[in-house]
Amino acid sequence: MSEVSHVPVLLEETMHALRVREDAIYVDGTFGRGGHSAAILARLGVRGRLLAFDQDPAAHSDHALQDPRLELIHARFSTMTEALAARGIRHVAGVLLDLGVSSPQLDDAHRGFSFMRDGPLDMRMDTTRGETAAEWLDRADESDIREVIRNHGEERFAKSIAAAIVDARGREPFRTTRQLAEVVARAVRTREPGQHPATRTFQALRIHVNRELEELEVTLPQAAALLEPGGRLAVISFHSLEDRIVKGFIREQSTADKLPRGVPVRAADLPPAPMIAVGKPVRASEDEVRRNPRARSAVLRVAEKR
Ligand SMILES: C[S@@+](CC[C@H](N)C(=O)[O-])C[C@H]1O[C@@H](n2cnc3c(N)ncnc32)[C@H](O)[C@@H]1O
Repeated sequence: MSEVSHVPVLLEETMHALRVREDAIYVDGTFGRGGHSAAILARLGVRGRLLAFDQDPAAHSDHALQDPRLELIHARFSTMTEALAARGIRHVAGVLLDLGVSSPQLDDAHRGFSFMRDGPLDMRMDTTRGETAAEWLDRADESDIREVIRNHGEERFAKSIAAAIVDARGREPFRTTRQLAEVVARAVRTREPGQHPATRTFQALRIHVNRELEELEVTLPQAAALLEPGGRLAVISFHSLEDRIVKGFIREQSTADKLPRGVPVRAADLPPAPMIAVGKPVRASEDEVRRNPRARSAVLRVAEKR
């Protein structure tokens, strides 16, 4: 187990949502350090199974869960249909996605996720492939940098930050998180109290480098298709861009087709919506936020397969 621990967010609420059955098969799409997985295993019987995904190789080496019912797969969660089919699994009783980066990833300066710690400007969750944040910043068009920072960071100073980045890289290529944090801080003059000027830019680059929103968009329909009747999808998101996608997906899946105008069919003859939204979005209690500040922005949404 690594020294840096990861406190699972909304743990009880997520377990309540998944309603783990002893003999069923579950998917944890975001294993991290296995906090949620451990709780699922604690509720599974000897014949239950848990397939867990994480694209970060460190997630596979740093956990302490040795359990024959658990299979840990080093892959993006967007490969879940294929990975499960390869194991002869077509349906599961629950899918969990606890999105974003883990505290150990954020806390390790060498991963390059944090403007608080100086390290290589990497930001890849999967360190075995793909382009680092530094490589992308060194080659991207100014307009692409601006759009990523504006759209993925919801940053109103995106234009001046992108211009400052292009100006700075002309003098020296980007290599470290501190280099980027300083360039951004000079380009952003006002900031919400308590927020570092580079917060939004770092979030935007991380989302871009890991294609986080695309991953989520292609995976939600896969998870829904994999669920058996009564199976549950539980998704924890940490910012509005993710939550908007999850909310939109659940709304679309839980709304029956509209009656076509002028066509003589009764509402009862139309196929019902494939999923049912379960309860209201769940947020962390004040007590949890006090113990784990990362829980502050977490939102859990749950849907059940009809
Ligand atoms: C918030 S942490 C999950 C923490 C976990 N629930 C726990 O209790 O330890 C998110 C994890 O998901 C992984 N991850 C994020 N997006 C992923 C994706 N598209 N495919 C696979 N793993 C992903 C990250 O590498 C990270 O380890």
